[in-house]
Amino acid sequence: MNSVLTSILIMPQKIIAGNWKMNLNYAQAMTLADAIAAGITGESSCEVILAPPSIYLHDVLRRIGHHDRISVASQNCADREPGAYTGELSAMMLASVGIDYSIIGHSERRIYFGESDPLLARKVDQCFKYGILPIFCCGETLDEREQGVQSEVVERQLRQGLFHLSEAELSDCIIAYEPVWAIGTGKTATPGQAQEMHSLIRQLLRGISDSVAERVSILYGGSVTPATAQEMLASQDVDGALVGGASLKADDFLSIIQACR
Ligand code: PGA
Repeated sequence: MNSVLTSILIMPQKIIAGNWKMNLNYAQAMTLADAIAAGITGESSCEVILAPPSIYLHDVLRRIGHHDRISVASQNCADREPGAYTGELSAMMLASVGIDYSIIGHSERRIYFGESDPLLARKVDQCFKYGILPIFCCGETLDEREQGVQSEVVERQLRQGLFHLSEAELSDCIIAYEPVWAIGTGKTATPGQAQEMHSLIRQLLRGISDSVAERVSILYGGSVTPATAQEMLASQDVDGALVGGASLKADDFLSIIQACR
């Protein structure tokens, strides 16, 4: 078998994840979940993950549970075991209702809720303890990019938050590179900027092992829209997208899914 064919055969499916953040009321959330499920046909060539607000997780899961291409993620989980921690949601609870993934370390959690790298490492551990796969976010601020330290920032976030895992665990993670300056700003990184960082992340993973580097999907996030998705997803090391704003409109999100083809 030639090497191009081998790499096509082992290439994982692209992943398109929708992060609904703290948006939508109950009826709107259910309508959106139904419309996305109805719009994803057997021909869709990617895996879709929906991350609704926690209060809707169970109902979204029930509505799309029959769909073999859609999984559900929480947007966060606690860094500790169940107990007296008012307002928190543990990985054990998420797993008990059938949640497959959890977004960990989104920049909005890091910035607005003071989540540190060591705390995120504990969250990742809780996820694995209960069989939930982390979608681990990393990315530099505008200030950090202007200082030219983006690579160091992303490397530190990955080493401190994720790289303590075993190779087997790491292979099951999804990494999302989300430059903070591109999130919700309408300012997408260029495909070149994304590819540069994704290839650096792949290189760091290769430092752990080739098989980890091949198995981990690296998503790009930050103002992905139907207009920008196709070019972004065509970059060699961009294995999918984590979509915020455009995931709240079924038509836009479905167009981004179409762009995987
Ligand atoms: P955005 O958000 O697509 O609205 O920029 C992306 C994200 O925060 O995951």
